[in-house]
Amino acid sequence: MKHRILIVLSLFIFAASCTLDADPEPETNILIDGVWTGSGEGRGGTIIASVEVKNHQVAEVTILSQSESSFAQETINTITGKAVGREGLLNPETDAISGATLTSNGVIDAINMALLAAMGKRADGDKTYRDGTCDIVVVGAGGAGLSAAVSAAESGAGSIIVLEKQGIIGGNTNYSTGGVNAAETDIQKSLGIKDSKQLFYDDTIRGGKNENLPELVRNFVERAPGTISWLTGMGADLSDVGLMGGSSVKRTHRPKGGTAIGPHLMKILKTAATNKSIEIRTSNRVLGLLSSGPAVTGVRVENADGRTYTLKAKAVIIATGGFGANLQMVTKYQPWLSGFATLNHPGATGDAFNWIEPLGGATIQMENIQIHPTAEAENHILITEAVRGNGAILVNREAKRFVNEMDTRDIVSAAILKQTKGDAYLIFDQEVRTSLAAIETYANQHLLKKGSTITELAATAGIPEADLEATMSRYSAQQKAGLDEDFGRSATEMTAALQTPPFYAVRVKPAIHHTMGGLRVNTDAQVLRADGTPIPGLYAAGEVTGGLHGANRLGGNGVADIVVNGKLAGEVAARFVQRRN
Ligand code: FUM
Repeated sequence: MKHRILIVLSLFIFAASCTLDADPEPETNILIDGVWTGSGEGRGGTIIASVEVKNHQVAEVTILSQSESSFAQETINTITGKAVGREGLLNPETDAISGATLTSNGVIDAINMALLAAMGKRADGDKTYRDGTCDIVVVGAGGAGLSAAVSAAESGAGSIIVLEKQGIIGGNTNYSTGGVNAAETDIQKSLGIKDSKQLFYDDTIRGGKNENLPELVRNFVERAPGTISWLTGMGADLSDVGLMGGSSVKRTHRPKGGTAIGPHLMKILKTAATNKSIEIRTSNRVLGLLSSGPAVTGVRVENADGRTYTLKAKAVIIATGGFGANLQMVTKYQPWLSGFATLNHPGATGDAFNWIEPLGGATIQMENIQIHPTAEAENHILITEAVRGNGAILVNREAKRFVNEMDTRDIVSAAILKQTKGDAYLIFDQEVRTSLAAIETYANQHLLKKGSTITELAATAGIPEADLEATMSRYSAQQKAGLDEDFGRSATEMTAALQTPPFYAVRVKPAIHHTMGGLRVNTDAQVLRADGTPIPGLYAAGEVTGGLHGANRLGGNGVADIVVNGKLAGEVAARFVQRRN
């Protein structure tokens, strides 16, 4: 069994390229309390499980992501139920459900990977690392970290190690759905979409309420189309371009049919990293930075078994993501978010902010925290804004529309919170469902309420039937006329008439999504001190940085940020390393 787990886990592990050494790991089978994540491959793709351990027993298992067919849900529920109360691993021989082997094995592998992490065991051959050196250390193996590592390798850095404190790579990128924003791309041109970098710049600044740092936005919009070509050159499919809230035109690049961007991107970046012999060490937590005078010279790391080692490097790139899963930190900056659910993976805890304090590193706009309007209300699963971009509307419990659904997230979230019970229903039809493959995942997760007529849908959702009929019929008429007299949704934004049965509803509620503040960086991805001078050898990219998005990030700019600025950080750090050689 262990053999099979190791095969699955090896998807996330890469051959060593730097100086390293390994000790045999001490044996312990006790589950350490905490929340642990793991992944496995089911029939439909990667399954990600989060396992909460309390008093050394499994207290709760949550499947964070899966694309199995709806028939597989019972198998998933049965196996997660079997895990609760355990003090050790599941056994594929006895815990799998007969007739559903692939899904069973994927769920069992995901849970067991999390449990191995909870036992302090590495999954990549029982190694414990000792002191070593390399050219570049990247902290964080999400989209920003792997973009940085791959681009550093392409730019001539010799040895690169990526450190990831979680048991799996991917971070929040594993869950991102919307797409990658960029203007003036070849893909837009081939689809006849008229866009410009200036319009992209203006939308981003307007969406951010003019709080964005203009030089970061300018650099971002200039570099974005080249980054799209870089990704497609590695095999990424970004051929579908959709509309997201606050964007004047379609500029959110995503895979054909509108499938989720995150897992696709991680697959592409992971393959590129493997091909470039970049080493990724999961379950290796950075504790702090090493420095000599003003310069950063490496990191101090904790192995999975708790033993520490140092990794000296000529440059360090911080790509640890935001702090959206650290509710203590979130409420320190925004006390009113107490009690809100989070859409973030458990590792988004903002550790890096402690590391830069001794070096005088500056932060910016930490109080700018984004809530996403449409988290599914029971399970806190992100329902992508692209559903609204492809035509869905929002109604309240009285079955009335109350906002331009395509307005920026801050406005839509605030409007939902003002409704009865602070939630809303996202309503769409079969035409919208067919237009966006990401919706199939929600169907498989049983998040959709369905009705063959609008009346039936209203009855299933528990909202007034006649009022929903009236709202839908008024909206359809306005959509056909291209004029939303009620809330000013533009003709371009009213993508569907919502008249094709069956009809669907999802109850949604705003949840913590993105932390827009973070480390202060310049246009070379260098981390700055309060006086604006760079800390030598220290770079950062992605959600850990602040200032690009201002007071409100546009949908599609988060993934664009991680790839554009991850790539940038890798290039600049590699040049710095070459100068030091
Ligand atoms: O709604 C979404 O798909 C979220 C995308 C984003 O935050 O960029």
